[in-house]
Amino acid sequence: MQNLPSAYTSTTLLDGTVSLSKRVFPYDALREDTVVIKTEYLGICRADAKEIRGSRDVPQDRGPLFGHELVGTVCYAGSRTRFRDGETVTFNPNITPTRTTGFAEYVFVHGSEEQLEQAVVRVPEAGMGQGAWMPEPFACIVHAVKKLLELAGPASLRGKRTGIVGAGCAGLMFAMYARHLGAQVTVFNRGEQRRSFAREQEILAAHETHALADADSFRDEFDVVVVAPTIATTQILETAAGLTADGGHLLVYGGTRKGDIFPAGQADIDTIRRQELIEPVSYGTKRFHLTGAYGCFKEDYEDGFRLRAEHPEAFPLERLASRSIGLHEFPELIMDIAAGATDHPGKVLIRI
Ligand SMILES: NC(=O)c1ccc[n+]([C@@H]2O[C@H](COP(=O)([O-])OP(=O)(O)OC[C@H]3O[C@@H](n4cnc5c(N)ncnc54)[C@H](OP(=O)(O)O)[C@@H]3O)[C@@H](O)[C@H]2O)c1
Repeated sequence: MQNLPSAYTSTTLLDGTVSLSKRVFPYDALREDTVVIKTEYLGICRADAKEIRGSRDVPQDRGPLFGHELVGTVCYAGSRTRFRDGETVTFNPNITPTRTTGFAEYVFVHGSEEQLEQAVVRVPEAGMGQGAWMPEPFACIVHAVKKLLELAGPASLRGKRTGIVGAGCAGLMFAMYARHLGAQVTVFNRGEQRRSFAREQEILAAHETHALADADSFRDEFDVVVVAPTIATTQILETAAGLTADGGHLLVYGGTRKGDIFPAGQADIDTIRRQELIEPVSYGTKRFHLTGAYGCFKEDYEDGFRLRAEHPEAFPLERLASRSIGLHEFPELIMDIAAGATDHPGKVLIRI
């Protein structure tokens, strides 16, 4: 056990309001089945803002996501865990709901040995490389691409025309990976801010970015279309379906909610996404497959670390960071983001 304090700072999300407070360090929570992580930095995820607004369906088995993108150091590892003090780790929020928020100086994760092995992921020395980046959102992309290739059948994305709706963090990471795998990528985004950010950060070339409003000029052009905005409105899904070529695949990655059906009366896209299914659908004169991806596994983090270490030029993930703040600035900023009063492209990082 490293030197632990008598008090620490943590956030609370209660009735749509985020606050910061000093708490007594809970020594009684240091059990045999506990890992405590001293956080070093965190990412703000779109899901954090959605949970403040109550616009995200929280799965019972995983619990809320609020404060899940973190990198830190193990500072306590119970005797029934396989961790050691001082290990650099990150977190997989898809395993156990029994944990505290990452928006804090310390995070407490409880679980069986097997659960902890999946939920707390060791960061290899070479894994992070230059600059801070968030392993979890990248692991979800690595997972989604694997799932697409597994469900859809094409062994590779090489030469595939890939259209991505949304130039948020998810859309940009998908573009990096698809391009690395040999796809031709085109990213459509509603607003100019994220398109400019992607070009200025040299994540996308000018010819790879377009306004979502121009999507009509690319009808039926893409073998694979990925839907990755905050919300998958019927209009966005119509646009994505319009982009998909006859016989192609439309991967729903973000923004669906329970009960969403698309196209009219045909497929329960929220279930397709969360249960990672594939279904054939008709759209006008076309037929294509709808598919989805949700969450990730420890192996996806490990593949993400390997990809980034072996191909740093293909995965400039640190360039997604657009702003860095302290924990004391977090409640006001996240409340503004949730209210739509401010919007940062890329990833906002909190350094602790
Ligand atoms: N399947 C999974 O495992 C998984 C994992 C992580 C995240 N996600 C989901 O992926 C989604 C995107 O996450 P992110 O990190 O990329 O978020 P982000 O960085 O905040 O980007 C949000 C994106 O959504 C777009 N958008 C929001 N409202 C829109 C609307 N009404 N019409 C058109 N575009 C709209 C934004 O476009 P503007 O620039 O025009 O605002 C932006 O491109 C979220 O829903 C998240 O929950 C899924």
